[in-house]
Amino acid sequence: MTNMINKAIATVIPYCPKKFIWVFSKKYIAGVSVQDAIKVSQSLNEQGVCVTVDLLGEFITNIRQADEHLEEYLQIIASFEKAQIKGNYSLKPTSFGLLIDPEKCYQNIRGIVALASKHKNFVRIDMEDAQRVDQELLLYLRLKRAFPNNVGLVLQAYLKRTQADLEELLKEHTPDSPLNFRLCKGIYNESADIAFKDGEKINRNYLKLLERMLCEGVYVGIATHDQALIKGAYELIDKYNVPKDMYEFQMLYGVTPKLRSSIVADGHKMRVYVPYGEDWFGYSTRRLKENPKMAQHIIKSIFVK
Ligand code: FDA
Repeated sequence: MTNMINKAIATVIPYCPKKFIWVFSKKYIAGVSVQDAIKVSQSLNEQGVCVTVDLLGEFITNIRQADEHLEEYLQIIASFEKAQIKGNYSLKPTSFGLLIDPEKCYQNIRGIVALASKHKNFVRIDMEDAQRVDQELLLYLRLKRAFPNNVGLVLQAYLKRTQADLEELLKEHTPDSPLNFRLCKGIYNESADIAFKDGEKINRNYLKLLERMLCEGVYVGIATHDQALIKGAYELIDKYNVPKDMYEFQMLYGVTPKLRSSIVADGHKMRVYVPYGEDWFGYSTRRLKENPKMAQHIIKSIFVK
């Protein structure tokens, strides 16, 4: 029954008034301006947490938006470096025209990585839906050739193909050009043909991939709020005596802050993903679909006084 309610909520979410979605979203979005993102990042830095900032606005349909996103990212980097924020940058290739003009998308992202590398900083390519994986793997490898230490990729444990992708990518792992991944479960709604749907299977694959990365000396951002995965990661870190500068934990802004603090208190590096921007709607509806229980809480707080 609860599952049916959750499914129904997930279906109607995209049609909800923006005002309603904002009630939920403000907890997870740093704000609409770069100044808002800096303020949130400064506060996280004070808590001993570094950040990765992301300008919202994926799946663009007009190439002019790609230019706007490029300009804004260059501004973000300039502002974040000036404010001496402890953090790096995340971006989604479809924000830069991957669906419209892949070469322009590459050139745009190259410009961003070039500026980050001037500041000895780093850009993480988020992984989007399964149809984008081949293109985003190639994009990453091309950027890695140009900026061997300034770019990383996300891999998703729910995809059945990820194990094979990882084995291929490991061939590109050299001391001068090391791989750097964020490992997450995956957030898009993929079909059972290509993705594990069962939570336990996803977790098993996650820990298998993590073990392989840690054993191969790949830097990993362990991106999860799942206590079972965090426990599993702790065990692997202990088992292989992984040095503290070879991994970090990562969480989303606004999600499980207590668990985040406990990981920091245990002495591990933590990075929080700080999304901001005018285009918060798509990001928020995905988070709500992922966790419809949140929508139930909001509905309750609106109707049950
Ligand atoms: P799970 O979903 O099982 O959550 C564990 C617990 O965390 C829940 O029981 C709940 O308590 C809490 N929780 C999780 N999400 C919550 C939410 N939205 N609101 C409130 N509580 C919540 N995906 C992708 O496909 N491509 C990408 O590039 C990225 N990038 C990325 C960066 C970072 C830093 C993180 C942490 C995550 C991503 N993701 C992502 C999203 C990821 O794939 C996944 O969907 C979410 O992290 C949720 O999975 P968990 O591992 O947290 O487990």
